[in-house]
Amino acid sequence: MPGSGQEEPVEQIIVRGGRPLRGAIRVSGSKNSSLAILPACLLVRGKTILRNVPDIRDIRTMTEVLCHTGARVRFLGEDAIEVDATEFSRATAPEELVRRMRASFYVVGPMLARLGSARVAQPGGCDIGARPVDFHIKGLQTLGAEVRTEGGIVIARTDGLRGAHIYLDFPSAGATTHLMTAAVLGIGVTTIENAASEPEVADVAYFLNHVGARISGVGTSTITIHGVSELRTGTEYSIIPDRMEAGTFACAAAITRGDVVLENVVVNHLSPVLAKLSEMGVHCVPSGGDPDRPGQLRVSAPERTRSVDVMALPHPGFPTDMQQPLVALLAVSEGAAMVTDRVFESRFRYVTELDRMGADIQVEGRTAVVRGVERLTGANVAATDLRAGAALIVAALGAHGESIITGVEHIDRGYTHLVGKLQGAGAHINRMDPERPALRLMTG
Ligand code: EPZ
Repeated sequence: MPGSGQEEPVEQIIVRGGRPLRGAIRVSGSKNSSLAILPACLLVRGKTILRNVPDIRDIRTMTEVLCHTGARVRFLGEDAIEVDATEFSRATAPEELVRRMRASFYVVGPMLARLGSARVAQPGGCDIGARPVDFHIKGLQTLGAEVRTEGGIVIARTDGLRGAHIYLDFPSAGATTHLMTAAVLGIGVTTIENAASEPEVADVAYFLNHVGARISGVGTSTITIHGVSELRTGTEYSIIPDRMEAGTFACAAAITRGDVVLENVVVNHLSPVLAKLSEMGVHCVPSGGDPDRPGQLRVSAPERTRSVDVMALPHPGFPTDMQQPLVALLAVSEGAAMVTDRVFESRFRYVTELDRMGADIQVEGRTAVVRGVERLTGANVAATDLRAGAALIVAALGAHGESIITGVEHIDRGYTHLVGKLQGAGAHINRMDPERPALRLMTG
């Protein structure tokens, strides 16, 4: 009760560590690809069905934003969504949704392309950095939009977007997907130089081409978009698997010295992560199919892993979203590692929570020095963002004793049924229902 001095009961994840993970875990569709393709569906003057969409909070937030613009959204079973943008007509997005989830901002491009205007809040920063949208705004202006910011609201209008040459100061994943989406219906040819080449960015381009866009240079640092007048309606598209979820489970298998088969993994999307894990002594064995298609990956680590240095960079460098779970594994690896994040300026805040579990990590700006200890010890820890939450779960699975993790709402933003999936691989992990503390939910 507020004011009564009683704390609101908060949801918790309880982990009893030290049990090797065994068995199969199915990886869900990519959060970051889905969050970029859903707003892109607004460009289609009709229905589009997306499959392999993860069932996570951020997806539900994005569908709320789409419905606000007049589009209709239907959930078709567990991992499929139909977007009908026939009546997409409202060029605004609810400020609290945009502030809650940065990717909501990606609706600006489709609003300008189809409606000629947009009023959308500037997304806020978060625990990992300031995260401005200046590259997005500058790119939209280059495409012929008038864009200004008043009171934290981005106000944009255009008489029609036109092809242009855009140079990105940094290979921003969000700016690349957003500007590519904005340029698809524009008149003329747009080139985006110093573009991001993450698999999720490529997936957005493949989706747009699937519905009739003309995009080339996908997966390279220069993307060319030939504007078209209309996109195909009534198509279906399957989102790529989530490489960050796959990488997180690989770290969990390694820290528990387990032996896990990951299903629905595109091995080539994980190259930098598998290279590092192999260097650390983790056995990563693909199932042998096409490495560019979803398949299986067996991950095992019979012995204690070795420490290696890591630098998080734009793709094809080591992905910044995997820095946190890997640091949890490095915390108990043999030796010392220097981990640098060249993408976000303050993405090590979660380290204080690992220190509570006995980790020996010193952070200086964008660099952490991780001295491996024999074992971590379970503790009460709090997740501050979704990848920090992933790091704490990996650490707790390998730790001695019980950990209680709060900040579960952050984890639910990006990991589908994480607790249930880990239970299926033998982990002692539960969610505590705050309403009935005695009952520990056995589902994820
Ligand atoms: C996307 O964020 C992902 N989010 C992030 O995943 C991911 O970490 C990041 O790309 C890098 O791969 C989604 O796709 C929803 P950026 P994004 O633009 O697009 C600076 C997760 O945990 N920048 O590539 O916001 C920015 O501050 C999330 O799933 C500008 O300065 O990342 C950062 O330092 C976290 N101005 C750097 O560029 C801009 O206009 C890279 O950011 C845009 C970005």
